[in-house]
Amino acid sequence: MTDDLAALCHAAEHDIATAPDLRALEAVRVALLGKTGRLTARLKELGALPPEARREQGARVNAVKEALTAALEARCAALAAAALEARLAQERIDVSLPARPAESGLIHPISRAMDEIAAIFGAMGFTVAEGPDIETDWHNFGALNIPPHHPARADHDTFYLPPEADGDGPPRVLRTHTSPVQMRTMLAETPPIRIIAMGRTYRADHDATHSPMFHQCEGLVIDRDITLGHLKGCLTDFLRAFFGLPDLPVRFRASYFPFTEPSMEVDIGWNRRSGELGRGGDWLEILGSGMVHAKVLANGGIDPREWQGFAFGMGIERITMLKHGINDLRPFFESDLRWLRHYGFSPMAPAMLHEGV
Ligand code: PHE
Repeated sequence: MTDDLAALCHAAEHDIATAPDLRALEAVRVALLGKTGRLTARLKELGALPPEARREQGARVNAVKEALTAALEARCAALAAAALEARLAQERIDVSLPARPAESGLIHPISRAMDEIAAIFGAMGFTVAEGPDIETDWHNFGALNIPPHHPARADHDTFYLPPEADGDGPPRVLRTHTSPVQMRTMLAETPPIRIIAMGRTYRADHDATHSPMFHQCEGLVIDRDITLGHLKGCLTDFLRAFFGLPDLPVRFRASYFPFTEPSMEVDIGWNRRSGELGRGGDWLEILGSGMVHAKVLANGGIDPREWQGFAFGMGIERITMLKHGINDLRPFFESDLRWLRHYGFSPMAPAMLHEGV
């Protein structure tokens, strides 16, 4: 019996020491100490022995059980450490490998232009204001001195919307320009004011140079003694910075908008035939501007005897197309990846003024 136990112990120690991995070791453990294991059988046999022999044999079997359990634990720890070692060796990272270029998206030219516009006006102390795309007829037209049936409304090809659910709300439109943000800003803030507002605008118009949805940038400056000179300096600086042409010719031409008085159209010099900007003797209309009409200031809750200022509005697609030599507006909104990959901008190189936007 004793020899038999010694042989079992010896064989088990050998099996434990030579188990090649954790799974094999677990099989060895079950064969010894599982429900029908060899050592478990020995423990069960003890019950049949007379008390004296049971005590003696019990001590031996338990000593073997303890020794084998300890051997199993030690082997288990060793095998786990070896497995970890092997994994670490296999998964070693070569930090000297050059990084693979990441698959990344590109910034749409319109978003890029808006970043550039914000960077330039930001440096001039402007902040960015916002307004809703769905406007009241009053904010879009009435408050801006464009009363019902005013001929200027006809130029806008407006998308009218049904009134809100209960039908009592004010008449609504998809804003035809960003100028209603002028009104919202005047009503919400007190002068001095110096904001730009960029976003989507809508007119029922569709061809190579018109889209029913397009983007505008509005500007509004109000202070005690803002003059036409400030307007001219501000817009000349902006256009030269945006197009990266310090000598870009800029011309101010008398015009008409119901919400500015006097009003001016702003043109830049270019070559009509080649499309080159800055030289060539031709003029291209870029934006509308003027001194904020006294009635508009009053509608915005600002006393026109105390405050005055200028406003301007320009189409973002138009200046983006000119800057990058793009002559069709439609692909801007067709989500054609080939176009976007060609005209898109890296998100890793944001618009920064000191590098020239
Ligand atoms: N809202 C005008 C347009 O859409 C542009 C403009 C804005 C003109 C502000 C003057 C002042 O054509």
